[in-house]
Order: sequence, then structure tokens, then C-alpha cells
Amino acid sequence: MPTPIVFSTPDEQRSWADDVRRQGSTIGFVPTMGALHRGHIALIDHAHSLADVVVVSVFVNPRQFNQRADFDAYPRPIDDDVQQCAAAGVAAVFAPTGAAMYPQGFETTVTAGPLASTMEGAHRDGHFDGVVTVLTKLFSILRPDLAVFGEKDFQQLAIVRRLVTDLDLDVEIVGAPTVREPDGLALSSRNRRLDATARAAARAVPRALDAAIAAARDGSVDDALRAACDVFDAAPQVHPDYVEIFDPNTLRPVPTLEGRRVPGTTRIATAAHVGDVRLIDNRDLFERA
Ligand code: PAF
Repeated sequence: MPTPIVFSTPDEQRSWADDVRRQGSTIGFVPTMGALHRGHIALIDHAHSLADVVVVSVFVNPRQFNQRADFDAYPRPIDDDVQQCAAAGVAAVFAPTGAAMYPQGFETTVTAGPLASTMEGAHRDGHFDGVVTVLTKLFSILRPDLAVFGEKDFQQLAIVRRLVTDLDLDVEIVGAPTVREPDGLALSSRNRRLDATARAAARAVPRALDAAIAAARDGSVDDALRAACDVFDAAPQVHPDYVEIFDPNTLRPVPTLEGRRVPGTTRIATAAHVGDVRLIDNRDLFERA
């Protein structure tokens, strides 16, 4: 299990990636904020199936946090992350400091468009501007052939696809399915901040989506939303920010389910606070059983 090379500056990482490309190898990239879990390993495995060499970035990007406390509390187990990358066959880990990514004088940013105006974007001011800014920098440093993103962050995936199209970035964006615990909770780096009581309460998040999916089979948008909210109402420790049923292309809420009862046409997403931990999840409203 060879240890990946760990780079901490953009210049070192760029010149290594240039060498890899010169040798004729393709680069698959998995951008992360660290605290790696099985969900990230699934993204790395996916990247391995599509590219010769896999690079993982580990950078808790300050520009995508709209609350300082959330940024400070974000877990940073870098040694464990590097070990997991080694076990997963990652060739290089890019783990820059904040100052290396945003040195004194940094002032140019990328702005996400209307896709960022709903759901996460509506609740986390500037979040997606921070995401597209850091990704533009990471893509420019690594120039990967492809980058793999989890569908758990469905809105992020849509915005990143828009980013590479709009700015003509030469990288293929690949989406990979959400990995879940046996009780349905989507894997997230934030889950490790849940104590036992909060972890039990967090089951309400996937259950709310289950309830909405069941209600949507014969019911309306309102029926599905009400079913999800009933689950949250029965879980006093869990406070939803939103539950939204939306078109997966525009990310806009859909007024009716008529003509939509087909997989891939309609999605449901939620974000909820469990104690001081904010969790997100989403599913296809008409996924195949
Ligand atoms: O999904 C994440 O972990 C982050 O938003 C990303 C894509 C690594 C950008 O910082």
C-alpha cells in the first residue's frame, strides 16, 4: 500500500500533475474537504475505474462556509485521510493551507448563477460562490481529465456541471450515487459530530424522504411535502431548513406531479439541523424500487 505523495502548494501539485500527463496517464480527481468516509472511498474507486491515476484534494475551504463556527468545527483528521487514500490507491493528496490557496492580495472570485438561488444557496449565503471559486482553482492547478462528485450534494453537482460548461473548463464531471448507512442515513463527514442521541434522531432525515416518496406515488406535491414534515415534526431534535420537490435540471420547485411519475424527472431534497449539525440529503422522487 504505497503512501500517496502529499503536496501542500499549488506549484508542487501542478508540476507533478504536468509530469503525469506528459507520461501519457489520465488523471481522475476527487475534491474533498477531508474527514474521509466510505462515501469518499466510493468516489475514489469510481475515479479509478475511469482514469489511470487518482488525485484527492483535502481542503476545508473557508470561502464556502457562511458561519465561522461551522468552519471551525469541521473535522480535520489529515493523517487518517492520507492513510485512507493510501489504502484506496490514491497517487497524490493535495492538502494546501488556506494561505497557499488564498494568499495576501487574493481578490478574484467566481459567482454561481441562478442554479445557486434555491435550497442550499438560499440558506447559505455565498456558499456556492465559494465552491465554484475553489473548484476553478483546483481544476486549473491539476487539469484533471475527470472529476467525481457525490450525488448527495445534488445542487453542487448541477452547479459544477454548469461551471465547466460556462467557463469552458476541460474536465469531465462525473456524478456518483450516495452511499448510506444501513438505516438509510447518507454518509457525511458531519455525521462524526453526531453523539449517540443525535445519531438516532438523524434517522428522521432519510425517513422524511422515504415518507415523501411513498406519498408522491398517488398524492400531490403538497401531500409529499406534508408527509416529510410529519416525520420531522415527530422528531423534536431535528429542525428542517427546507424540504423541496424540484426539477433536476432547473432545480426549480415543481408545482404538480402530473406527468412526472417517471424516474429521473423529479427530485426531493432536504436540509435539517440535528442539534448543531446540519445534514442534507436528496433522492429521486420516483426512483425505481
Ligand atoms: O463537496 C465538498 O466537499 C466541497 O464542496 C468541495 C467540492 C470539495 C469544494 O470545496
